[in-house]
Amino acid sequence: MRGFFLTFEGLDGSGKSTQIRKLAAHLERSGHAVTVTRQPGGTRIGDRIRALLLDSRTERLDPVAELGLMFSDRAQAIAEVIRPALDQGRIVLCDRFTDSTEAYQGGGRRLGSNPVLRMHQVMCGGLNPDLTILLLADFDRSLARARRRNDRTAASGTNEGRFESEDEAFHRRVYEKYREIAARESNRVSVIEGDQSIEAIHRQIVELVEEKLRPVTTR
Ligand code: TMP
Repeated sequence: MRGFFLTFEGLDGSGKSTQIRKLAAHLERSGHAVTVTRQPGGTRIGDRIRALLLDSRTERLDPVAELGLMFSDRAQAIAEVIRPALDQGRIVLCDRFTDSTEAYQGGGRRLGSNPVLRMHQVMCGGLNPDLTILLLADFDRSLARARRRNDRTAASGTNEGRFESEDEAFHRRVYEKYREIAARESNRVSVIEGDQSIEAIHRQIVELVEEKLRPVTTR
C-alpha cells in the first residue's frame, strides 16, 4: 500500500515546525506510522547541502546553481527517505517541498515558475504531495518572527540566515508566489490564513488531514 505524502509550506517564521510536531504526535497517537523530514536536509548528504545553502557566509551563489542544489537535496531525500517510507505505507510529513523552490527561487530570486516546474519533472520522478498545508500568517509578523529567530540562531553559533536576511521585497515576492501556487493548485493546497492561536491552527490541520486520510485508510 502506498502511504500518504503531506507537505508544509510557508514563509520563514510561519510556525510550520511547531505544527508539524503537533500533527506528528496526534497521528502517532491515532496509530499511524509517521515519518517527519525537512528540506533542505533530512539526509546526511542533504544536511551538507543545507549547510551550504543556508549559511549567510555562502557568497555569490548563482540563483540557477541554488535552484540545482535545492533539487539535488530533494532527489536525495526522495530516494533515501520519502519513497521508502511511502512504500511502507507510512505518512510522510515534509517541511517544505517543490512549492518552496517555486516560491523562493521562482518568485524570490525571480527565476520564474517554469524552470522550477520543469526541474521538478526531471528530478522528482513524478512524486507530488497528496496534500499541502500552506501557512500564510500575516506577512509583517512572519518576517519579524523570522528575523528574531535568525538573531537567536546567529547568537548560538549556527548560521542559517541566508534567506531570512534577504530584504522585504524578496519575501514579498515569495509570499505572492505562494498565493499564485495556492490559486493554481487549489485541489492540492489548503491555505491556513491569518493570526490564530497554535491550537486553533492545529485543529484545522487535523481536520483537513483526517478528511484526506479517510478514503486512504478505509480503502
Ligand atoms: P527552514 O528549514 O527553516 O524552513 O529554512 C529553509 C530555508 O530555505 C527557507 O528560508 C526557505 C529556503 N528554501 C528555498 O529557498 N528553496 C527551497 O526549495 C527550500 C526547500 C527551502
